[in-house]
Amino acid sequence: MDKNIVLIGFMGTGKTEVGLLLAKKLNRKFIDTDKLIEERENDRIARIFQVKGEEYFRDIEEKVIEEVSEYKNCVIATGGGAVIREKNYLNLKKNGILICLVASPEEIYKRTLPKKDRPLLMKSKNVIETIKELLELRKPYYSKADYTIDTTQKEIETIVDEILKIVEKENGKN
Ligand code: S3P
Repeated sequence: MDKNIVLIGFMGTGKTEVGLLLAKKLNRKFIDTDKLIEERENDRIARIFQVKGEEYFRDIEEKVIEEVSEYKNCVIATGGGAVIREKNYLNLKKNGILICLVASPEEIYKRTLPKKDRPLLMKSKNVIETIKELLELRKPYYSKADYTIDTTQKEIETIVDEILKIVEKENGKN
């Protein structure tokens, strides 16, 4: 199977950590679209949001996704808002199996709290409420994934093992 494994889902669901270990186990290249955006802009995501605004960030994100969707055999971790744009979803889907990582709002809160790099949560006065609202808004987009894995209270290794089983199953289809 030369399809990319694309991790989508909300902030704090473990896309980067899971993606890194998964890529290592599968001996595939790991791509993190947020990291690519930061490299390209030579700036942190939070500052890009602050200085140039969300639309600017989303436009760069769209370009980066268009490019990485041409790759084969990679593990790609996307930003939490990536699949909101239909074009991004379609591009990623072209040569990818989309796996959505989910977690409870409380778990997301715990995981994102220590990190001050989530511009959509940083300014909120009630972070848990903002998480719940955004999750609700994004549900229809995340639900378009081919597979969904709940990562709440699971070790990274366990989640990776679940994805490896999916990969085996997909391999069997070809
Ligand atoms: C965003 C999630 C972030 C990053 C940006 C916007 C979102 O990525 O792309 O802050 O809209 O949910 P992570 O999901 O990797 O935190």
